[in-house]
Amino acid sequence: MLRLTGLPQDFKADTQGALIPICPLAPEHRSKIKRHLLSLSAHDRYLRFGYAANDAHIERYIDALSFERDEIYGIFNRHLQIVAMAHLALMQTPGRPSSAEFGVSVLAYARGRGYGARLFERAVIHARNEKVSEIYIHALSENAPMIRIARKSGATLERDGSETDAYLRLPKRDLDSRVTELVVDQYAKVNYSIKEDAKRFWDFLSKVQEIRQGVRTSRHQSAE
Ligand SMILES: CC(C)(COP(=O)(O)OP(=O)(O)OC[C@H]1O[C@@H](n2cnc3c(N)ncnc32)[C@H](O)[C@@H]1OP(=O)(O)O)[C@@H](O)C(=O)NCCC(=O)NCCS
Repeated sequence: MLRLTGLPQDFKADTQGALIPICPLAPEHRSKIKRHLLSLSAHDRYLRFGYAANDAHIERYIDALSFERDEIYGIFNRHLQIVAMAHLALMQTPGRPSSAEFGVSVLAYARGRGYGARLFERAVIHARNEKVSEIYIHALSENAPMIRIARKSGATLERDGSETDAYLRLPKRDLDSRVTELVVDQYAKVNYSIKEDAKRFWDFLSKVQEIRQGVRTSRHQSAE
């Protein structure tokens, strides 16, 4: 497993010290995004979207995603399913400093591994490189892990009863932020294609085993 040595300073690892490959998602990932978001529980949907999002709301949200303007990131498991994803919505108004809103979700079984925090750091690198001056997160005040991520990054928190808004001012882009983005994207691409090859191989192997089993069963039946 790749370890964190000599990489740009913004590029952090998970709780075991392994690098987490974070892929920028494209329109062809819509069906995987849909599967990820629809598998969130009702409470997680409420935490993620700030309202009780039903399946139709989620489908409309996915249809409206702008992959050209925004950045959408995914962390894939070895079956190439999205276990964690984040959406950095860029708000660029001519003549005004750009800002961005961050939203994230991690499947329940994969929480506590640092995925949420790493996705936020990944989004911060991109936002800096896009000359965004501030990132905004809207969270419910009960959402301890999200508030922890925002607080640890140095964001200013404004609590208003059951809701909390977090604002993180970003430093200007520099050589380090640009090199980091290139390195992490390249690493994620390589990791994804290795997973694709491995998945193809295991799918092939399970087909071969199915055929073998079929042949064995029919031999057994004809011998009876
Ligand atoms: C919020 C969410 C994305 C966090 O994802 P995650 O991958 O579990 O987060 P991380 O593992 O990176 O943990 C982040 C921090 O929260 C802490 N944390 C985790 N669970 C916690 C809890 N129940 N209470 C307090 N802190 C907690 C972690 O220890 C970590 O802090 P550390 O870096 O100091 O150790 C995830 O819980 C989720 O998908 N929730 C539903 C959707 C949602 O709430 N989205 C956010 C609104 S946009």
